[in-house]
Amino acid sequence: MPAILEASDLEAQYGWTKVLHGLSFAVEAGRITTMLGANGAGKTTTLRAVCQMVKTAGQVRFDGQRIDGKSTEDIVRLGIAHTPEGRGTFVDLSVEENLRLGAYARRDRAGLADDYEKVYQYFPVLAQRRRQQAGTLSGGEQQMLAVARALMSRPRLLLLDEPSLGLAPLVVREIFRIVRTINEHERVSVLLVEQNAAIALDLAHHAYLLETGRVVMSGPAAEMKKDDAIRRSYLGYFSMDERETRSHTQRSPGRETPTSAISPSASSRERWGGVGAERRSLPPT
Ligand SMILES: Nc1ncnc2c1ncn2[C@@H]1O[C@H](COP(=O)(O)OP(=O)(O)O)[C@@H](O)[C@H]1O
Ligand SMILES: [Mg+2]
Repeated sequence: MPAILEASDLEAQYGWTKVLHGLSFAVEAGRITTMLGANGAGKTTTLRAVCQMVKTAGQVRFDGQRIDGKSTEDIVRLGIAHTPEGRGTFVDLSVEENLRLGAYARRDRAGLADDYEKVYQYFPVLAQRRRQQAGTLSGGEQQMLAVARALMSRPRLLLLDEPSLGLAPLVVREIFRIVRTINEHERVSVLLVEQNAAIALDLAHHAYLLETGRVVMSGPAAEMKKDDAIRRSYLGYFSMDERETRSHTQRSPGRETPTSAISPSASSRERWGGVGAERRSLPPT
């Protein structure tokens, strides 16, 4: 499958501080790719770098065409929509006004009505609340609005920044189910960044693991999910041996303890993290 997005040696910095140290990754056309990593790993900055919202170096290609150096608005016009961290909805505007803003970069006004109908089909709760102020929506509904607004630009690639943040597991599952449907029905490719490795690996086809601004591991999501080190550090599962030892301390014997968010342990840092960490790659499916 050809890549719709390809970044090579991507660097990004805030002021004098470099936070991405030469990332290379690709998003396959029509697929869902996830980038996992603990808080501060550089996930949000990666999405900002793709949209040229932060000072970058390195190359970014969308559909084979260089987009590094282009304006963010031109990048949106080419077909990339970004649902930012914190959702970025306009709380004083109604649901429908927020959706209209999502279509601002479009040159074709025709089809707009159809697109409202389409996003309301994906998110029926937004249809019920179309005249309501966005600020009065629940957290989950606001996240749905943020995704729906991104769809209004008719993107070919959707960049999603931690849609699960602060939401109840049931709501997260519902949003991820809709993202999967959009991916399958609209053929929108997705780059999802998440701290919640468990749910992201269930949704995605391919995954990258980011630590301190570097890719330290990548592979098919199903393989990553089975990887011992990922399970231990990012999914909160322990091997039999470790469970034995841990059962005497803080873990109850024989029980696997999933954690919802990523918090890398010291062992993961030793294994992958820090400068000079070896990059591992799992075989392609
Ligand atoms: N606006 C900013 N100014 C300066 N440093 C920032 C800014 N945003 C993020 N950083 C720093 O960049 C690094 C990566 O942050 P970020 O991309 O937000 O990580 P993540 O999304 O994985 O939590 C962190 O060390 C963070 O403190
Ligand atoms: Mg972030």
